[in-house]
Amino acid sequence: MPELTADLFQPRSFVGVAEVHGQEMGRGEVRFFTHADQNLVLRHYRRGGFVRHFLADRYLGLQASASRSFREWFLLADLYRQGLPVPRPVAAAFYPGGIFYRADLITCQLENVQPLSTLLQSPLPDSTWRALGGTLQQFHAAQVFHADLNAHNILLDRHQQAYLIDFDRGSIRKGQNWKQENLRRLHRSLLKLSASSPIAEDVEAGWQQLLTGYRQTD
Ligand SMILES: Nc1ncnc2c1ncn2[C@@H]1O[C@H](COP(=O)(O)OP(=O)(O)O)[C@@H](O)[C@H]1O
Ligand SMILES: [Mg+2]
Repeated sequence: MPELTADLFQPRSFVGVAEVHGQEMGRGEVRFFTHADQNLVLRHYRRGGFVRHFLADRYLGLQASASRSFREWFLLADLYRQGLPVPRPVAAAFYPGGIFYRADLITCQLENVQPLSTLLQSPLPDSTWRALGGTLQQFHAAQVFHADLNAHNILLDRHQQAYLIDFDRGSIRKGQNWKQENLRRLHRSLLKLSASSPIAEDVEAGWQQLLTGYRQTD
């Protein structure tokens, strides 16, 4: 990308802010903006869990290369080059301050996508669920571990293509056992989102389709 400077992390104007639907959606501060005719997404890293009350957006560490943002940038670059459906990483920032740092990440915006969590308001075609299962299998075949695989971190476009986002704490991981746990986590997220909703049964049927798609690609 041309004209990459630190200024990029202080965009003069934002096109929008990611909608936040309740707590589970993400802690993030995610903002959309444009640079050199590219639609970009700026994410400021924020702590989750209990430590957020006193650490807010601060992380322990002294090395840029080991920071949340740089790690995610390098992982995304690797996955993007492999042709996996992830946002193209643009730039990572590391702001040192004593023993803590703050961090930002800029990625290319995925166009015309919606989070799976939002799409769940009405039943999805079987083919969408199966395609999603196939995509998850693709990531697992490449040994990609997503630390927070839930319905908010899966974005779908109009052609049923699924993208995974939010690779904070993700990694390339050896072995097989974590893969089932990874899927179970997504299943729990789907059950939680559809609990006591009219489409709860559709989601359960969809999950079976997803597993079929996952195994077929295997
Ligand atoms: N590259 C991207 N393209 C389009 N939308 C994005 C992109 N990155 C993030 N978003 C939107 O912002 C939301 C939050 O981003 P995410 O990276 O999951 O951060 P967090 O969960 O920490 O808040 C996502 O659920 C998605 O709707
Ligand atoms: Mg997220």
